Amino acid sequence: MSSLDSIRKVLQNCQQEHLLKFEDQLNENEREIFLKQLSTIKFDKVNALFQKAKNSISEDVQKLDSRMQPISAQQCGSEKSASAEELLSYRKLGLEEISKGHVAVLLLAGGQGTRLGVSYPKGMYSVGLPSGKTLFQIQAERIRRVLNLAKEEHGTMGQIVWYIMTSGPTNATTKKFLEKNDYFGLSQDNVKVFQQGLLPCFDFSGKILLEEKNLVALAPDGNGGIYSALSNNHILKDMENRGIKYVHVHSVDNILVKVADPVFIGYCVTKEVECGAKVVSKDGPDEAVGVICKVDGKNQVVEYSEITNETANLRDSSGNLVFSAGNICNHFFTTEFLQKIADDYEPDLKLHVAKKKIPHVNDSGDKILPSSPNGIKIEKFIFDVFQFTERFVTWEVSRMSEFSALKNADSAKKDCPFTAKRDLLRLHKSYIEKYGGKVKDGVEVEISPLLSYSGENIEEKVKNKIFEETTILLSEEEDCLKKKIENCIKS
Ligand code: UD1
Repeated sequence: MSSLDSIRKVLQNCQQEHLLKFEDQLNENEREIFLKQLSTIKFDKVNALFQKAKNSISEDVQKLDSRMQPISAQQCGSEKSASAEELLSYRKLGLEEISKGHVAVLLLAGGQGTRLGVSYPKGMYSVGLPSGKTLFQIQAERIRRVLNLAKEEHGTMGQIVWYIMTSGPTNATTKKFLEKNDYFGLSQDNVKVFQQGLLPCFDFSGKILLEEKNLVALAPDGNGGIYSALSNNHILKDMENRGIKYVHVHSVDNILVKVADPVFIGYCVTKEVECGAKVVSKDGPDEAVGVICKVDGKNQVVEYSEITNETANLRDSSGNLVFSAGNICNHFFTTEFLQKIADDYEPDLKLHVAKKKIPHVNDSGDKILPSSPNGIKIEKFIFDVFQFTERFVTWEVSRMSEFSALKNADSAKKDCPFTAKRDLLRLHKSYIEKYGGKVKDGVEVEISPLLSYSGENIEEKVKNKIFEETTILLSEEEDCLKKKIENCIKS
């Protein structure tokens, strides 16, 4: 049987034969590409996913609300309520684990940045800082700095492997960008890019959509795709071989993210948990962040799109939001727990359905760009594993120092390049003021992540100094390089 015949048979059995409707209009090359793509899709599994997802569409949001409870006080730690000694001991322990090479960072970079409106991966975005640094560069440099802090504290230069999860749409560009920039000073061996999976997009009746006459419409399977991607790409094995015990996972879009945060890691290790989530107190009932809570007694995040207005607005007797633990997509996992999820629980992950406008080829072969939702994308969410463990804590941090997300274009005036840049420079200004320095209104002073991770190591450069013009405070290494370049230009 030819490969076309055998694929037709599979598609007939799965009621997806319409995908071959335009097959006789394809030239040899187009047909070859198409058959190759079709042969990689497990249609029986994909159909079963649609059925499971369909059930979750009909799940009543109202019903979910009535099953929600705040998480227990014992599970909630916070930077504000911890004592100075506790904070110091968490930091010290976190740095120790880093210096022993037990900590890895996993960056979630598979999203398509649709809301930001760029056609390239979000990590390559520069919000317009004086240095022009991109999100990827800022994050890589924070890793380099925290490694130095660990060395200063414990005497050994550990290593942090930077695992970057990309998706079909972001993989090649991300890899090329990192390579071109020499991995921003990290060792190439310690930067591992791997791809999450893709799933077909469906119309509302379960028929898979074609993006082109010879191309199935596919989309990344959500950031919860991490669990199958970790085993399919042998990343868990790689972690085991390298002796990694703890993984700090975060989204690409938070310009303030404390990458491999030793305090958070030390806190989670001290509490002996399998996973943890950083939270900020929601800035109001309408903020578009998920809330960490319990549903039917199990740890869960209820996403901003899945909570009713009424529940989001519930307040306690002191007037505080009942569901205020805002999820910032910043998590701690033990590798042991990740392995357990990959081995035992991955197939049980909840499927989330998003109704989307999906460009497609219609029955007449015309390319349609819909103006209203015409189909669904199925996604898994990273936090849906919290329910599989009792050993789970949250760690509340200050929004001003740790959370400013880049989601939208500037026109939204919220969570956009303007606010990301403003928030980072505001934080840097506060670091400078701590040492008696002053930044004149409207003046931009940026602190390189290679110089300072969270406000340390700048005293000499800022004490009692008044900054009247745009300045970038550089590390010694950057200063040397800058001088070399200036000398080269002069001579
Ligand atoms: C996410 C959280 C939400 C939280 C908010 C804070 C999830 C499911 N939701 O929402 O609870 O309040 O951040 O900013 O975590 N990504 C992938 N692959 C994908 C889809 C996304 O790697 O298939 C990555 C993105 O690149 C990004 C991160 O996951 O780094 C978060 O994804 P995004 O779609 O921006 O999530 P939000 O809806 O903002």
